[in-house]
Amino acid sequence: MLEKMAEFFDARLDGYEEHMLDCIESAREFYPFTAAQLPKAPGARVLDLGCGTGLELGEYFALNPSARITGVDLAPGMLAALKAKFTDKSLELIQGSYFDVPLGEGQFDAAVSVESLHHFTKEEKVPLYQKLCAALVPGGYFILTDYFAPSEAEERFYRAELLRLKAEQGVADDEFYHYDTPLTVAHETQALLEAGFCGVEELGCWGATHLLRAVK
Ligand SMILES: C[S@@+](CC[C@H](N)C(=O)[O-])C[C@H]1O[C@@H](n2cnc3c(N)ncnc32)[C@H](O)[C@@H]1O
Repeated sequence: MLEKMAEFFDARLDGYEEHMLDCIESAREFYPFTAAQLPKAPGARVLDLGCGTGLELGEYFALNPSARITGVDLAPGMLAALKAKFTDKSLELIQGSYFDVPLGEGQFDAAVSVESLHHFTKEEKVPLYQKLCAALVPGGYFILTDYFAPSEAEERFYRAELLRLKAEQGVADDEFYHYDTPLTVAHETQALLEAGFCGVEELGCWGATHLLRAVK
């Protein structure tokens, strides 16, 4: 049975972090590695898309305790858990979809997203990445650590499966349900470049998880 995105994550809050760290290959390596790519300057302004309970932010605050974070997430329970973990940090949390929330212009030195964007199509991502690019300062960058499809065939298969399940269960097409539909790294890179980022490079790979750096 498909579950709505926010309800899916909030229902699994207990044990969520242990699951991420123990069940995703090399998660204990890629969270610190992701954090190490973010700006070291005191007070750096960083946007986190799909911040959840902030596994990447815990690693980042250890490196840059005065970073100013804006976190966007659909799931209120995940955000409440994040807030309770970092009471002494600069953390602005926005409950909503990153597709809908305004991100402003030239407000962030960098942005990050970890294990969140593999639920969406390239067509959905291009306008989001345009908005994200506009929200970064000139020379700002986006660190995307996510799960990718190993082939176009697999990318097409999961998308078709989601559409089939939605039709079978009669669920609304315009609502977010939790079902992994990762793009290939090549298609993700195309989406970032089409959105206006001027360069994309891969900085790391751990099994199906890759880390891409897109520069404005
Ligand atoms: C697997 S969790 C990752 C959380 C955190 N980044 C981490 O790595 O632990 C995915 C998160 O993305 C959020 N999410 C999914 N789609 C979203 C959307 N359209 N807008 C905002 N948040 C979203 C979910 O609510 C969930 O908290």
